[in-house]
Amino acid sequence: MIQTQIETLTKKKITEIDFPEIDKLISTLSSDLNNGKITKKEILTMNQSFGQEFLENTIQGHGLRKPFGYSGDFLMIDKIYTFHTSPIEKFKIWDEYFHLQSAPKAVRNRKDYFKKIIKEKLNKYKKMNLMNVASGPARDLFELYEENKNCELNTVCIEMDENAIKYAENLNLKYLNKISFVHKNIFRHKEESKFDVIWSAGLFDYFDEKSFVLMLKKFKEWLNDNGEIIIGNFNEDHNPSRDYMEILGDWHLHHRTEIELKELAEKAGFNPNQIIIGKEKENVNLFLHIKN
Ligand SMILES: C[S@@+](CC[C@H](N)C(=O)[O-])C[C@H]1O[C@@H](n2cnc3c(N)ncnc32)[C@H](O)[C@@H]1O
Repeated sequence: MIQTQIETLTKKKITEIDFPEIDKLISTLSSDLNNGKITKKEILTMNQSFGQEFLENTIQGHGLRKPFGYSGDFLMIDKIYTFHTSPIEKFKIWDEYFHLQSAPKAVRNRKDYFKKIIKEKLNKYKKMNLMNVASGPARDLFELYEENKNCELNTVCIEMDENAIKYAENLNLKYLNKISFVHKNIFRHKEESKFDVIWSAGLFDYFDEKSFVLMLKKFKEWLNDNGEIIIGNFNEDHNPSRDYMEILGDWHLHHRTEIELKELAEKAGFNPNQIIIGKEKENVNLFLHIKN
C-alpha cells in the first residue's frame, strides 16, 4: 500500500538515488487523490509520519506546518531565494530535493525577472515610483537596490503580514529612505498616489476570478499614464512540480493559462492591445503585463 511505502521512506536516510522513487510516489498519490482512492485528509495524516523533528527542520515541513498560518509565507519564500538547507545533516538532502523542483526554481527566476524589468525601466525613465503588492521578504527589492545603488526608485510595499514587514525592513535597512511598508490587506487599501509600475508576484494565484478582476480594477486607478501593471501567476499549462506542491507541501494555488490571464485583464476593462504575457525561464510562472 502506498501509505506504507511513504512511511518506510520517512524512516529511511535518503540519498539522491531515491529521488526518482519519491517522484513516482508523489505522482501515484496525486492520481489516487484525483481518482478518489485516497482523501486529502489521509494525505495530510500521512505527511505527519515524517515526524516532528523533520517537520520542524525542513522546508517541506515548514510548508506543512504553516507557522504563520498560511502557505507561501515570507520565510518560506526567502528560504527558496537563499537556497536554504537544514543544518541537520540527515534533513539537508530533503531540502536539496525541494530546491530541485521547478516551482522553487520559478520563484527564484521571478526575482530575476522583476529586477531585469525594473532595471530596464530605470535606464529609460531614470526616476520611478513602484508599488510592490504583497512584498513578503522583499529580497527582490533588496537585490535591486544593492545592484542599482544610486537609482531614483521610490517603492511602496503593501503587505498584510506584520512579521513579513519586520523581516523585510530588517533586510532592507540600508534602503528604508527609498522603501516604505504599509501594513494593510490590499483589499482594504486606499491609495492617493499614482505609480509607474505596480508589481505583484505570489498573490494573485491565491485569488479566485472575482477577486482577481476586482484587484486589477483597483490597480488601474493607481497607475500613471504610461505606467505598467505586472502580475505573476502559476502556469496551468506547465508546472511539473504541482503534485509535489500539493501532496508534500499542501500548497494549493489557482494555476492559470495565458488565455485565462488575458481574459481576466479584459474583464477588468483593459483592451487586448494593452496586454502581453511574459514568462520566466522555467515557464512555470507567467506574468500578465498591462500597459496604460
Ligand atoms: C508568496 S508571498 C510573495 C512574496 C513576494 N511578492 C515575492 O514574490 O517574493 C505572498 C505574500 O502575500 C502576502 N499577502 C497575502 N494576502 C495579502 C493581501 N490580501 N494583502 C496584502 N498582502 C497579502 C502574504 O502575507 C505574503 O507575504
